[in-house]
Amino acid sequence: MNLAKPRLTVIDTDPGIDDAIGILLALASPSFTIAGITTVAGNIGIETTTRNAGRLLAFAGREDIPVFQGASAPLSRVGPEPLNLHGEDGIGGVALPDPARLPENRHAVEWLADFLMGQPAGAVDVLALGPLTNLARLVLEKPEAARRIGRIIGMGGAIHEHGNVGPRSEFNLWADPEAAAVVVASGLPFVLIPLDVTRRVRATREFVEALSSSGKPTAAMVASLIESYFEAATNRESRPLHDLCVMLFALSPELFECEDLQLSVSVARNEQAGELTIMTEGGAMVRVAMRVDAPAVLELLTRQLTAD
Ligand code: BDR
Ligand code: CA
Repeated sequence: MNLAKPRLTVIDTDPGIDDAIGILLALASPSFTIAGITTVAGNIGIETTTRNAGRLLAFAGREDIPVFQGASAPLSRVGPEPLNLHGEDGIGGVALPDPARLPENRHAVEWLADFLMGQPAGAVDVLALGPLTNLARLVLEKPEAARRIGRIIGMGGAIHEHGNVGPRSEFNLWADPEAAAVVVASGLPFVLIPLDVTRRVRATREFVEALSSSGKPTAAMVASLIESYFEAATNRESRPLHDLCVMLFALSPELFECEDLQLSVSVARNEQAGELTIMTEGGAMVRVAMRVDAPAVLELLTRQLTAD
């Protein structure tokens, strides 16, 4: 299988156990040239998501990559309470080193805007693993820079699948629906990976065992992260690897089947917040991953994490 050519990439994230696994995969794979990690509040508060990004880079020996702290709250509503699923430290209590490098002083949105302006238009991809607050602020405050993004690949939403925070709403879009609505309406090239796909990409106990017995430090760390995910959940036999699907799509898009859908995002102030509706008029065109070859992406993941 031919993997994607290396792309200049920014990861916007709220780590988060599944974010952490996605970041480790990106760091392990030559298909990503990571220019920076920008953080957002979501699974847990901004100080913790920022610290976790630094801890992951320290673990991977990649503190050459800068971390920029971003939005501490949604655009225009109160942020969510920390999710129990990710533990008190946001990454399930897994032992990671303290970062030696501090986060940068600049705000994530300011840095991202300058970075995009300094690169050829279309050269930078943004992998969005959390609420879309930073990207919405970029669109609203720095539209010229936003237009230079090559593509955004984001985890979020539910199309035909039931939601994970409301009947039809998914956490990342629900946590800041106004931001999601801005990004969807912006017309920027946007690939959305909803629960319809991410719930099909599941780590089983057997899968975790294969990673931990591989003798590779990154694979063993991913196994520990998934184990802590099992411990916090009611279903302890298999867990969906939501955010990781963003990296897997970037690596091998042919393993996903996409549809171009005209979408609108609900900004209701009730449990419908973040719901997606397919429109026949209005809405904005988004490329949505609807199906995935799950065994093939899991094999790809294993290969990337256990490669010499
Ligand atoms: C999304 O919500 C968060 O808890 C995960 O990190 C993922 O980004 C799944 O709905
Ligand atoms: Ca996330």
